[in-house]
Amino acid sequence: MSKLWAGRTDGHTSQLADDFNSSIRFDCRMYEQDIKGSMAHAAMLGAQGIITPAEADQLIAGLSQILADLQSGALEIDWQAEDIHMFVEQVLTERLGDVGKKLHTARSRNDQVALDFRLTLRDEIDGLIPLVKAVITAVTDQAELHKSDIMPGYTHLQRAQPVTFGHHLLTYAWMLLRDIGRLQDTRKRLNLSPIGSCALAGTTYDTDRYFEAEQLGFDGIVENSMDGVSDRDFALELMSALSILMMHLSRFSEEIILWSSWEFRFIALDDAFTTGSSIMPQKKNSDMAELIRGKTGRVYGDLIGLLATMKSLPLAYNKDMQEDKEPAFDAVDTAKMCLQVLAPMVATMKVFPENMKKAAQQGFINATDLADYLVKKGMPFRDAYKVSGKLVARCIADGTVLEDLPLSVYREYADVFEEDVYEEISLVTCVNKRISAGGTGIASVEGQIAKVRQALEA
Ligand code: ARG
Repeated sequence: MSKLWAGRTDGHTSQLADDFNSSIRFDCRMYEQDIKGSMAHAAMLGAQGIITPAEADQLIAGLSQILADLQSGALEIDWQAEDIHMFVEQVLTERLGDVGKKLHTARSRNDQVALDFRLTLRDEIDGLIPLVKAVITAVTDQAELHKSDIMPGYTHLQRAQPVTFGHHLLTYAWMLLRDIGRLQDTRKRLNLSPIGSCALAGTTYDTDRYFEAEQLGFDGIVENSMDGVSDRDFALELMSALSILMMHLSRFSEEIILWSSWEFRFIALDDAFTTGSSIMPQKKNSDMAELIRGKTGRVYGDLIGLLATMKSLPLAYNKDMQEDKEPAFDAVDTAKMCLQVLAPMVATMKVFPENMKKAAQQGFINATDLADYLVKKGMPFRDAYKVSGKLVARCIADGTVLEDLPLSVYREYADVFEEDVYEEISLVTCVNKRISAGGTGIASVEGQIAKVRQALEA
């Protein structure tokens, strides 16, 4: 096939080379951004007198028609085209004749692809943030419903201290709010226009990069033309932010999987978000949560893949960089799907506070509070810690729990024990006494809910 860039070579390449070289399969996704970028470019060329205003109008009208035709399906993508940029220009030239050939004045595909990629990922970030918010809302709604339901808090996956399910869930709300912050931050650094960098060195034409940047909603321009065409930090930053986000979703999924097991039975997922087994009739599997956990590795792979692609590239543009789009789009699409599934899965899950409470009543998770009780009676903490530990060992030997141990037994270990010990170590007291800022006490949990909701509205 003969190429738009035929000249130095005869433009005839082998079919194998064409197929290998072509990126239209995945960069067709940027057609809208490509066309809007070209419209801004045509407007700039006209405003600067590089082409006539009439020519600029013709180009803009032609581009806008191509956009409409692609959207309606009247125009189909030519899968033989080299990339989306070549395809649009080819169609434009077929439709407008010689004027179409003027569009690419003072522009290169190097700055064009950098522009399209930034515009596309900017749109994706704007689409991702509401999806993260939806998960935070689902989590916070559940936290509010269960703000005083007691469950064991764990360290080392061993029962540690009592917390409320609301407090536990809100941890994820805070993680996800940070994820939104990272996405917004990525957007800020992404939102500078590379167009006008041209191939790498800028151009001899009297262009106005600021005009184009403003037309396309950028906050400014990339200040160095070589940086403009060789930088892919914005994609890497987005994938880093998405990797951390996915890590959060994966940890949450892991807990959902554990909590839905018969061993825990703290929650049951709605049937709509589970699957059965082809052989075991009793099974209800948390496949969606497992898939979120599994897809996390895939998003990390996307990030590591592009980091590896970029690591030894000399300035400025190299064709290696065409490998940037597939991982970035895959990371975006994967994260989006996971967020979309997770929000309703959390919103519809059934919670069993009774089972949480039962689990909290085993495992001596009030042993710290027992030690604190002795400290309040005047015993140094290290001694109190030992007494409390010995009492736990005694309970294990007697097959009982601290709440049921008779006062006479308590007194064998320390004579400061009184009847009020039972009130001190009741799980409700243990939770309500944790009044420190950010603790599991009810005032803190209610405060957190209000703050999370406020952050969502901001
Ligand atoms: N399809 C290319 C990419 O995705 C566009 C830029 C091509 N530039 C070039 N000089 N061959 O990176």
